[in-house]
Amino acid sequence: MNKFPKNFVWGAASSAYQIEGDPLADGGGKSVWDTFSHTPGKTFEGNTGDTACRSYAHPEWDIENLKHMGLSAYRFSTSWARIDPEGDGNWNEKGLAYYDRLVDLCLEAGIAPYMTLYHWELPQALEDRDGWLNPETPKAFARFAGMMAEHFRGRVKHYFLLNEPQCVAALGYGNGIHAPGRQEPMGKVFLVWKHLLLAYGLGAQAIRAVDGGAGIGIATTGRLCYPETEADIAAAEKATFQVFDNDWLFTHQMALDPICFGAFPKDCAPGQLRDLMAAVTPEELEIIHQKPDFLGFNIYNGWCVRESQGAPYYFIPRYEGFPRTALKWPVTPEVLDWGVAFLWRRYGLPCYITENGLSCNDVVSLDGQVHDPNREDFLHRYLLCLKNTFSHGTDLRGYFHWSLTDNFEWHSGYGERFGLVYVDFPTGTRVYKDSARWYAQVVKTNGESL
Ligand code: FCB
Repeated sequence: MNKFPKNFVWGAASSAYQIEGDPLADGGGKSVWDTFSHTPGKTFEGNTGDTACRSYAHPEWDIENLKHMGLSAYRFSTSWARIDPEGDGNWNEKGLAYYDRLVDLCLEAGIAPYMTLYHWELPQALEDRDGWLNPETPKAFARFAGMMAEHFRGRVKHYFLLNEPQCVAALGYGNGIHAPGRQEPMGKVFLVWKHLLLAYGLGAQAIRAVDGGAGIGIATTGRLCYPETEADIAAAEKATFQVFDNDWLFTHQMALDPICFGAFPKDCAPGQLRDLMAAVTPEELEIIHQKPDFLGFNIYNGWCVRESQGAPYYFIPRYEGFPRTALKWPVTPEVLDWGVAFLWRRYGLPCYITENGLSCNDVVSLDGQVHDPNREDFLHRYLLCLKNTFSHGTDLRGYFHWSLTDNFEWHSGYGERFGLVYVDFPTGTRVYKDSARWYAQVVKTNGESL
């Protein structure tokens, strides 16, 4: 079968710091992203999330947009620092009330809330105590996760505990291009990684202790490969799950193997990484090993692989002039076909695409409209491939487009526009892009219009 199943979830995604604005309003605490974006030279043109899309002041704008497109689900994130300003469990009720309002708006509109608990805004107070290098930080996260699940019991049924822990470790503590902007050696980056996995494990336990009905997941990213021809399927699968010492973080399996199987990946050559993995204790692995109810994959592009004589696989180099997005990310729709299927075959859990999309140089044209044929074409190609993943038996439950609106794209600031809905940042005004109307049609026909 290659058809989107009945009840397939069509949604869009966002994250707190990228859209909300007013991070310190009503007693909210500073997060590492507040500190980082206010540090000269860290973000494009010194952009910050101070105002962003004004979603904190006007959550109803986003819900109206979702409703207008006929979407049945919204993946958003909560700002840990807004709710737990000191990272000590002294909850800021007003911050929490904002998410009450957002969740209730979703439910009133018939939109299922998919809540991400941590999309990178570590409370600065915790970073001041050594952030993710401190073994107490996973415990602080679990306290937060448990409180949230208790508070939203019955209203929120799907949680993604962490978004892309890969970026937190590699970009936040490795090369420093993301907050908190640290450049630590591999041993310390691995410690950050271990603590993120422990945060997931302890958080999952805390949520399950208070709400047996909550579904638990994690949204990961990493290298995915797809075969050049039918003859290259096994090679592409092998290349996907190989862990290299110089690129160990950007793999799904470094997170999902310990979480789902209680063990780190075995396809890894001898070296520092192997030693670091071997030093993780069985007790720690037991905490990390909390099997999720579903998995979320953030997928933007992948690698084409060919079986090769003499080597198990060959990464086909991208030719000159290869199609790319405004951010220069390669356009490789095939990754949504076999790439997703490989992950499904390895883990056997229901899957969601929790992010997929592209940045374009969108402008409001003289006619007042935002014409974005590149986004339509990208989406059309990617969704056609996604449709084909069902022919491999993939248990794919939903697709969340990144992003609902243009927003603060981390160190690229407002220089990149990923939204289906255009945002005029000086005023917060929203304008539907052509692609939003196109996507609404796909949603309405459950993919038959593709
Ligand atoms: C992902 C992030 C998301 C957004 C997209 C473009 O890595 O999770 O917040 O920045 O990339």
